[in-house]
Amino acid sequence: MTERFLVVNGPNLNLLGKREPEVYGSTTLAEIEELVSQRATQLGVGVDFAQYNGEGELIDALHSADSNHAGVILNPGAYTHYSYALADAIAAISVPVVEVHLSNIHGREHFRRRSVTARSAAGVVAGFGSLGYVLALEALASRFS
Ligand code: DQA
Repeated sequence: MTERFLVVNGPNLNLLGKREPEVYGSTTLAEIEELVSQRATQLGVGVDFAQYNGEGELIDALHSADSNHAGVILNPGAYTHYSYALADAIAAISVPVVEVHLSNIHGREHFRRRSVTARSAAGVVAGFGSLGYVLALEALASRFS
């Protein structure tokens, strides 16, 4: 069976490319998704993509991924730092979730240094820009190879 993974991005990440490029780079979300798709093809796995600005939609996406995907790559955006609801959703599902951040959140403002969502994640990749999504995909795919 071919594993399928969900890549889901949270608030403001639809603006990648023009949003604070000095922090998040100039690559757009569509370009990141293309990069991940190409690596998925090489790895022989499937990927689906979603982006939501709302917390509830992200939670719904995690719930449905539990039945429809073998794992999730999640950039929760700013919800990372305070959403216990999202943290609970990650804990509630049984498929692995890899948390990704484009920036190194540990080297930024104080409020960004804490992730409340990481606790239930299988792992975290931060600080490698768009490559982080590819690394997360490799980590998830390796669980099934
Ligand atoms: C981010 C880091 C968060 O602090 C921020 O709110 C984001 C993006 C990142 O990918 O580096 O929206 O998750």
